[in-house]
Amino acid sequence: GEAGAASFVIFGASGDLTARKLLPALYDLWQDGYLSDASPIIGVARRDKTDAEFREEMHVAVNEEARTAPIAPGDWDRFAARLFYRRLDIATPEQYPAWGESIKAIEREAGVTDRRIAYLAVGPSLFHDCVEALAGGGLIPEDDQDDHPPWLRVVVEKPFGTDLESAKELNHDLRVKLRETQLYRIDHYLGKETVQNVLMFRFGNGIFEPLFNRQHVDHVQITVSESQGIEGGRGGYYDTAGALRDVLQNHVLQLLALVAMEPPAKFAADDIRDEKRKVMEALRPGGEKLDDWAIAGQYVAANGKKGYLEEDRIKEGSTTEAFAALKCRVDNWRWSGVPFYLRTGKRLPEKLTEIAVQFKLPPMQLFRTVECSGDVCDLIGAQPNRLVFRVQPNEGIELSFSSKRPGMQYQIHPVRMDFDYSEAFPTKLPEAYERLLLDVMRGDRTLFTRDDELEAAWRFLDPILKAWAKPEHKPQEYPAGTWGPDAAEQLMSDSGRQWRGE
Ligand code: BG6
Repeated sequence: GEAGAASFVIFGASGDLTARKLLPALYDLWQDGYLSDASPIIGVARRDKTDAEFREEMHVAVNEEARTAPIAPGDWDRFAARLFYRRLDIATPEQYPAWGESIKAIEREAGVTDRRIAYLAVGPSLFHDCVEALAGGGLIPEDDQDDHPPWLRVVVEKPFGTDLESAKELNHDLRVKLRETQLYRIDHYLGKETVQNVLMFRFGNGIFEPLFNRQHVDHVQITVSESQGIEGGRGGYYDTAGALRDVLQNHVLQLLALVAMEPPAKFAADDIRDEKRKVMEALRPGGEKLDDWAIAGQYVAANGKKGYLEEDRIKEGSTTEAFAALKCRVDNWRWSGVPFYLRTGKRLPEKLTEIAVQFKLPPMQLFRTVECSGDVCDLIGAQPNRLVFRVQPNEGIELSFSSKRPGMQYQIHPVRMDFDYSEAFPTKLPEAYERLLLDVMRGDRTLFTRDDELEAAWRFLDPILKAWAKPEHKPQEYPAGTWGPDAAEQLMSDSGRQWRGE
């Protein structure tokens, strides 16, 4: 049910995220009965805009994105009555007090006082100013000295920094006026139903978890691939970030942490985040020289698609990677010696996110099948068992194993068992942002990243970031619409392994 009324103050209200993700999610929450009618939503940005204009803009945005049924007549007006817009030039601190008063006036009218969620839907360079504005506007309630932090929750978006040093600085800056327990760092992958199910699958079943270790697992591979290029005017941001910062540091390493972590003592935010942090701290390079374990790629025009350098707002001759693949290890008791292969990139053949756990072969091959095509015959033995978490699309989990092919001989043949969300649960999966915003209201930080796990992730990647920033570093080319540069293939094939789907 409803999580109690609170006001939402959204910085960056003119931005893409507010229109495409936040307002549609808040609308869905309201529709589903999770958002109290007494919760005002106040957009904040530099532009001048009336409440009516803001409501109209958001109406258009929610209409475009609403995933449930189209907005019923009358519903929008009831929802929109809680939408307000209060302009603020964040670079002008003299505006803070009057602006703060105008927010408080809205809250008083709605009957919520000092229960406030501030969403910083702005770049990290503005986080500090937003917190100053909250403080200068009198919107950070007094600390009551005991262990209850004042009721203000601050949500920050990724990218959280650009490297270890900047992430530490950001954490430090935010904590001048806020406590860690008031901070909600978003990684929207954690809001995905299928990602949360990784823990449910591992720790809610008896038969799989005993196999998740170095005795039984040959390797783990994680793919977050996208078919799109650099779209929607994102070139300016993306070109300064690259695949490593944009997706690998956060979404991919979070997936890795969830498949590799130890069971927490209880299912509570800090117990889970303690275990994820330990995984991040145990990350090690998967090779001696950087080139042996970290591959940067950049797509060139092919298959009717532009190359990276021809995309909108990309610097001439940019060496930013649009693809990254890593071979790494999790250096602990459970995973010692098991390689983890990670890859992510733009303009790959399909949009797909999955985690595949590949198991070792049985100790000897009792069954072999002769398979001939033309004059060439091969002896096929057992294929390794694979457990695949299909995060998206075709959400589900599959397990492949060997079976006897019906007939008068012992012929071995790979088959699979399949769990498909749409079959097992014929309801729509909640949107990641819907779930995450509800958790902020409930005060549940389980699905948000903590300062220490984040810093550990940056610490692991820092040497790669430094090496790739050097002028002599060039990403390797791959044709748009293919699975990345050959070197990524080689990361695997060097040890006789293979990426799935190739
Ligand atoms: C975002 C990245 O965090 O995740 C984007 O900034 C990327 O570049 C997106 O496209 C992918 O998210 P999803 O949910 O579509 O897999």
